[in-house]
Amino acid sequence: MARDVVGEIMITQEQIQQRAKEIGRQITADFQGEEIVLIGILRGAVLWMGDIMKNVDLDMTIDFMAVSSYGASTKSSGVVKIIKDLDSDIEDKHVIIVEDIVDSGTTLNYLKHYLENRNTKSVRICTLLDKPSGRKVDIQADYSGFQVEDLFIVGYGLDYDQKYRNLPYISFLKD
Ligand code: IMP
Ligand code: MG
Repeated sequence: MARDVVGEIMITQEQIQQRAKEIGRQITADFQGEEIVLIGILRGAVLWMGDIMKNVDLDMTIDFMAVSSYGASTKSSGVVKIIKDLDSDIEDKHVIIVEDIVDSGTTLNYLKHYLENRNTKSVRICTLLDKPSGRKVDIQADYSGFQVEDLFIVGYGLDYDQKYRNLPYISFLKD
């Protein structure tokens, strides 16, 4: 079966949910008395977005954007294309981008500037995973779940060629 290409479990669902509780509490404390908008980046952030939002105890709304991804390759093209833009108005709002992984940083660097240009009050980044070894653009997440090594990660929303997003844990692609 195709799953023969998937390695061992690196991070369990329980670990992710525990971390989401901690980050949710942190966001709640950081934005006391404020209203926020969580922007999930489709499709990789879908499970992590659910974990974060239920742990944020503030007035909040959600929205989603979709940007171009790697396709069937494991290397970034370095080009970011918006496939689905926001449905809501974020002017004067505190925004938190919820992303699956920061690798080269190209996607988030682009998105952060794009959203800042819409007269937001603030733009922060909340990522499930951070792969610092891949970084090409100097950008850091404000809230980060776990650091991962230089492997191609799959599971818990992250795909290879659109597959393996449904694995309820973080694993990697064997070469
Ligand atoms: P960046 O622009 O290089 O930081 O890449 C960001 C996007 O590339 C993420 O939103 C993912 O969709 C994808 N990506 C980067 N690294 C991985 C990985 O290890 N596994 C799966 N997708 C990845
Ligand atoms: Mg993605």
